[in-house]
Amino acid sequence: MEKKRIAVVPGDGIGKEVIPAAIKVVEATGAAVEFTTFDWSADRYLKDGTTVPPDGFAMLEHDFDAILVGALGDPRVPSNIHAKEILLGMRFKMDLYANVRPVKLLDESLCPLKNVKPEDVDFVVVRENTEGPYVDAGGVFKQGTADEIATQEDFNTRKGVERVIRFAFELARKQGRKKVLMSDKSNVMTYAGGLWQRVFKLVAAEYADIQSSHMYVDALCMHMVRDPKQFDVVVTNNMFGDIITDLAAALQGGLGMAASGNIHPGKTSMFEPVHGSAPPFAGKNIANPIGAISTAAMMLEHVGLVKESQRINRAVLAAVQQKKTTQDIGGILGTRETAEWIASSLSRTQ
Ligand code: NAD
Ligand code: IPM
Ligand code: MN
Repeated sequence: MEKKRIAVVPGDGIGKEVIPAAIKVVEATGAAVEFTTFDWSADRYLKDGTTVPPDGFAMLEHDFDAILVGALGDPRVPSNIHAKEILLGMRFKMDLYANVRPVKLLDESLCPLKNVKPEDVDFVVVRENTEGPYVDAGGVFKQGTADEIATQEDFNTRKGVERVIRFAFELARKQGRKKVLMSDKSNVMTYAGGLWQRVFKLVAAEYADIQSSHMYVDALCMHMVRDPKQFDVVVTNNMFGDIITDLAAALQGGLGMAASGNIHPGKTSMFEPVHGSAPPFAGKNIANPIGAISTAAMMLEHVGLVKESQRINRAVLAAVQQKKTTQDIGGILGTRETAEWIASSLSRTQ
């Protein structure tokens, strides 16, 4: 079988630790993949001013089957320009319009809520990934004066809203899920919300087999904590999707556990843990690698290596259940040792 070509951007901070950990686990499955690592990061930017080399995105698209990213963000680059150009660059310029963030509790002990079982937390957030306030439109007027004005525009296109909503319904069908809930703030942000509401109703009507419903995003946060069981697929805009998936990560045991994929069906897609570069944790071998390892499993499934992906998911579950993990979720192992345990248990979990 021809090897799948994976571009790797570990990035900054703990990205440099959790990505090698994830690669170690993938390699232990014997998956037919070939990794090529790129040094796009704060270090590179501070060294020679490069964020993404010329034609970098076209190269990723043409030469690779998928991209695995760690995290971007470094206190030495307060403007965050490199993260904007590398991470948001991939999402926007490669048009990876659906950010898929599964929310799955692997073990009861990881959930901060009382009496919540793994089957009670099992849903997927589909976050719009190419629009909203993230488009970098806006400006400042009279900067630094008492009359300063700052605007940040929220872009919502008919095409962008429709395709991500359709993606959510298709994902529900593909995963055998029964419900899609759209979340917005259409009671206040009436123009953008109106578009989301109208398009959601139109698309939902094409999927008679899937139940559709709506919840304002503030209420959604409350319900996610009070009764996460009710959720199946949640589709929302870029900004709300960012916020609710950190909350959702907490339901799974924290940011160290959460995986994600930035997807455009048929195009080279990018996979990254939900967490950031966690500067205080960097270089200490304490970051939880499971978010990155589960992300790598998502990526393998996406490129057709389903068996290897399932083997990783089973080994991760075993690690969590046997507390062969980092301290944030109750273990005593380091980042590397957790990955080593998962890699070596792959053969035992067949
Ligand atoms: P963060 O996700 O890096 O960390 C927040 C907290 O979550 C940490 O202090 C830690 O308690 C916990 N955490 C995160 N990852 C963990 C892991 N693997 N194991 C154990 N605990 C973990 O968020 P932040 O502190 O708000 O941001 C730090 C930097 O990362 C910023 O520059 C930010 O812009 C950037 N960031 C990047 C991404 C990305 O590249 N996708 C995502 C979020 C934040
Ligand atoms: C995420 C992050 C990013 C976002 C930042 C680092 C630009 O928080 O992937 O969740 O806001 O999308
Ligand atoms: Mn985020």
